[in-house]
Amino acid sequence: MAKIVRAQPLGELRKRKSLKWRYYEKEVLPLPVAEMDFPIAEPIKNALRDMIDRSDTGYLGPFPELFESFRIFSNELWDWNPDVSQMRTATDVGVGVVEVMRTLIQPGDKVLLNSPIYDNMWRWVTEVKAELIDVPLKRNQLEYSLDLEAIESAYRTGVKVHLLCSPHNPVGTVFDRESLSKLAELAKHYQVIVISDEIHAPLTFVERKFIPFLNVSDAAREIGITVTSASKTFNLAGLKCALIITENVALKEKINAMPISVGYRASLFGAVAATSAMSECSEWLAGVLLTLDENRKLIKKIIDTKIPSIGYRIPDFGYLAWLDLTALGLGDDPAKVLLERGKLAVNGGHMYGPEHSSFIRFNFGTSPEIITEAFERILQTNG
Ligand SMILES: Cc1ncc(COP(=O)(O)O)c(C=O)c1O
Repeated sequence: MAKIVRAQPLGELRKRKSLKWRYYEKEVLPLPVAEMDFPIAEPIKNALRDMIDRSDTGYLGPFPELFESFRIFSNELWDWNPDVSQMRTATDVGVGVVEVMRTLIQPGDKVLLNSPIYDNMWRWVTEVKAELIDVPLKRNQLEYSLDLEAIESAYRTGVKVHLLCSPHNPVGTVFDRESLSKLAELAKHYQVIVISDEIHAPLTFVERKFIPFLNVSDAAREIGITVTSASKTFNLAGLKCALIITENVALKEKINAMPISVGYRASLFGAVAATSAMSECSEWLAGVLLTLDENRKLIKKIIDTKIPSIGYRIPDFGYLAWLDLTALGLGDDPAKVLLERGKLAVNGGHMYGPEHSSFIRFNFGTSPEIITEAFERILQTNG
């Protein structure tokens, strides 16, 4: 049984210099920004300390151990054995996706995404001056799925790239093999490149099976590009190192047209930390998943007993809860009201797409005490 990993105390967290802990005034309890409040794994700390001790603080160059550790990690978690000769580094997932799109499409080309979706994805499309096509997820209460019929209709109009968020932030869904496989067939048929952002995948809970897009089928390998990173799972976002992966020689050649600087603009610290994360930290990950599992169930218990009008579906992965606050009547920006009246910072649903403004995204990668306090503040705000 893995040793449970607990969040740091609030006093320690407040000393952090990261965005989550610097952005708001002191009275505010900050639960936006996808960072976790756990101490990072010991092997990562040791690897980074060793670099500092040896003043090994230069540029990132060839780093095959990163690719090999991702291959083994993927094999162990998902039975996927990606080809190390088709992996490249990028500064982070955002930069990786934007650079891939810059290489593959022209300004004005159509890029499809499925709202509600990770807010920066909207900005990535704008950054490459593409035309944004939103095909919202199909929604049944709080169950979300890919709307394959609507996606096909959109593909027919000449979509060039589909930005897939798999698993899907913020709704908490891990897509099943059948829908990913159908999506791959459609994309192949209409010659759409699917860029699959799989940054949250290793945080999938045991009752679900995450399927890497490039492991879905031959069709997926023909049109798919995965962009991912160890940063979300192991809390290394500030260290800057992501992976861009293809499994098809023609696509590999196309992607090789990217400026070589895309690779070395990642950080050496990020590559070292990610390599350690994926090769030495499975016990830490298991311990974090135990805590996150407790936390997602604690939220259910608090909602059921204290404020059942909040809509909540226990997420399939990670540390982001997608809460429907419609029934609380806090207006069309409940996050703003919670911040002003309750001194609680969460992300407003409007960031993720239209028609979800009465939702909030609540980060539970923290302690049960902070989660409980956050709900107290919601209750007080609700009056
Ligand atoms: C789906 C998704 N992709 C990418 C990112 C950001 O990754 P990076 O910091 O590597 O750009 C996040 C952060 O929350 C995310 O949720």
